[in-house]
Amino acid sequence: MTTVTMTVNGKTVSADVEPRTLLVQFLRENLKLTGTHVGCDTSQCGACVVHLDGVAVKSCTTLAVSCEGASVTTIEGLAAGGKLHPMQEAFRDNHGLQCGFCTPGMIMAAIDIVNRCGHDLAEHTIREELEGNICRCTGYHNIVKAVAAGAEAMRTSSLQQAAE
Ligand code: FES
Ligand code: FES
Repeated sequence: MTTVTMTVNGKTVSADVEPRTLLVQFLRENLKLTGTHVGCDTSQCGACVVHLDGVAVKSCTTLAVSCEGASVTTIEGLAAGGKLHPMQEAFRDNHGLQCGFCTPGMIMAAIDIVNRCGHDLAEHTIREELEGNICRCTGYHNIVKAVAAGAEAMRTSSLQQAAE
């Protein structure tokens, strides 16, 4: 066993894990943060996407011990003060989900897309950037709409924060 310590959703957490423990196992099994899903064993579906030091990663292909000292954000860490993140609201408002299994990974990936590509996202950019996230319900049309709306809402919310 190896002791690993990291910050998850703003809290410092520490646990003894086997060196082969994946970050997604650490989140789901050690921390009981089950919003991060496992949808494949081939690193293809993106249901497991979380942010590692602010960047989207597939937590099913990341070893927990490699996250020593890092800061991880999961879907559970997005809402603040009882208010959903603008991207979460956009998925809800645009019917960007059906069964919801892919949704946590989609939302974490979508926020990363906005962080990297900006708020004015063309449809083809969103579709290309979401290539690593699979929706089994094939609801891509509304997912793309939700990401575009969420990107715009993130701009408004960052302007509001700057003005406060
Ligand atoms: Fe990670 Fe499918 S569970 S990509
Ligand atoms: Fe069901 Fe995407 S909403 S897998």
